[in-house]
Amino acid sequence: MSYITIIFILLIALAITAGVLIFFVVKLYLNREDLRTSSDVILARVLGRFPLPVFAVNRKHHVIQWNKALEVLSGISKDQVMGTGDQWKAFYGHQRPVLADLIADGASEEEISASYHGRARKSALIRGAYEAEDFFPSMGENGKWYHFTASPLISRGKVIGSIEILEDVTERRLAEQNLRYYARQITRVQEEERKYIARELHDTTVQTLVALIYQMDNFLAGKPDLTVPETERLNAVYKRLKWAVEEVRRFSRQLRPPVLDDLGLLPVLEWLAGELKKMYDMQVEVVISGEQKKLQPDTELALFRIIQEALINAARHARVSSAGVAIEYLEDCVRVSVTDRGVGFDQAGKIATLPRDGKLGLAGILERVQMLDGKVDIVSVMGKGTTINVEIPL
Ligand SMILES: Nc1ncnc2c1ncn2[C@@H]1O[C@H](COP(=O)(O)OP(=O)(O)O)[C@@H](O)[C@H]1O
Ligand SMILES: [Mg+2]
Repeated sequence: MSYITIIFILLIALAITAGVLIFFVVKLYLNREDLRTSSDVILARVLGRFPLPVFAVNRKHHVIQWNKALEVLSGISKDQVMGTGDQWKAFYGHQRPVLADLIADGASEEEISASYHGRARKSALIRGAYEAEDFFPSMGENGKWYHFTASPLISRGKVIGSIEILEDVTERRLAEQNLRYYARQITRVQEEERKYIARELHDTTVQTLVALIYQMDNFLAGKPDLTVPETERLNAVYKRLKWAVEEVRRFSRQLRPPVLDDLGLLPVLEWLAGELKKMYDMQVEVVISGEQKKLQPDTELALFRIIQEALINAARHARVSSAGVAIEYLEDCVRVSVTDRGVGFDQAGKIATLPRDGKLGLAGILERVQMLDGKVDIVSVMGKGTTINVEIPL
């Protein structure tokens, strides 16, 4: 064999080896592609049958998953949206990042919160995920409320996109709104009824009793010849009548203190402090700061009821002999806090369940604050005491 033949054979062997190698490498690569594609297909299949609307985006904000439920909800088909950055079209009338986009970008908590006007928060269940609840006016006939959660898709420690799941909570929101409306109506009607009963007691019952006392005065004055036992018995009736007038007056004032309507919040607090001293032997210290203003009648009434409830709670539950009320008048709001250093109570998850046990005091405080678009914060520590802070915008 000549040299040339040997070199030729060697070259052919080399080419075959290289070909075989390339074949295996390509095959391996193709297999991996297959694997990747098949996992995407499986994911799409799982999500496709998932009853809640779900979609996913990659880091470039291109849609990589869009399930059937979301097609129905948004009216946008998977074919239309896959590979595009049009996910916003499902929710908004103008282009803006959706929660999944923010998560895919690794946006900060502040950015996410600002983007949803403070209505987004970190998920308690999944690390790196956020959830939010918002109203989408362009969806459905009258708009819809959605609760949505977006979590990062992570591969080898890196965020490669995100997945978002939505839940229609419109019915729950409507039920809550109706309940709130109902509670407001009840609070309003209750105040009107109290006012009506207080006025009726004052205008009719008290007047009748006063007239009886007057008649009796006259009767006694014109009967100097009554026997001692007769005079004593009539005097006893006379005293009881006077006592009844006082009782009815006190009851009517408690229902709706006329001082509140006539003179405002601060004088009525003085009256309330006196009543609490008499009824529960509890001292109330009222501290006022800032420039005092006359508030709207609705605000004064609500603040009075809130302070009244908090102080009666302090007297009945906290087992204290004194409590404090602080009222701070600021430029655009009024702050009220009622504090006792009593037994305190465990309020974890309790306040929401109190009304069904017939305990309407704290729930009433929350309701009245909400009616005035205010804020309330109840801080209670076992063995240390309770403070109820309320802030009402003016
Ligand atoms: N200042 C307080 N100190 C201790 N416990 C309190 C205080 N305020 C409220 N609580 C607790 O919270 C419960 C609910 O209060 P509330 O809603 O006013 O209903 P009620 O006064 O009719 O019991 C009370 O029963 C009591 O256990
Ligand atoms: Mg109470």
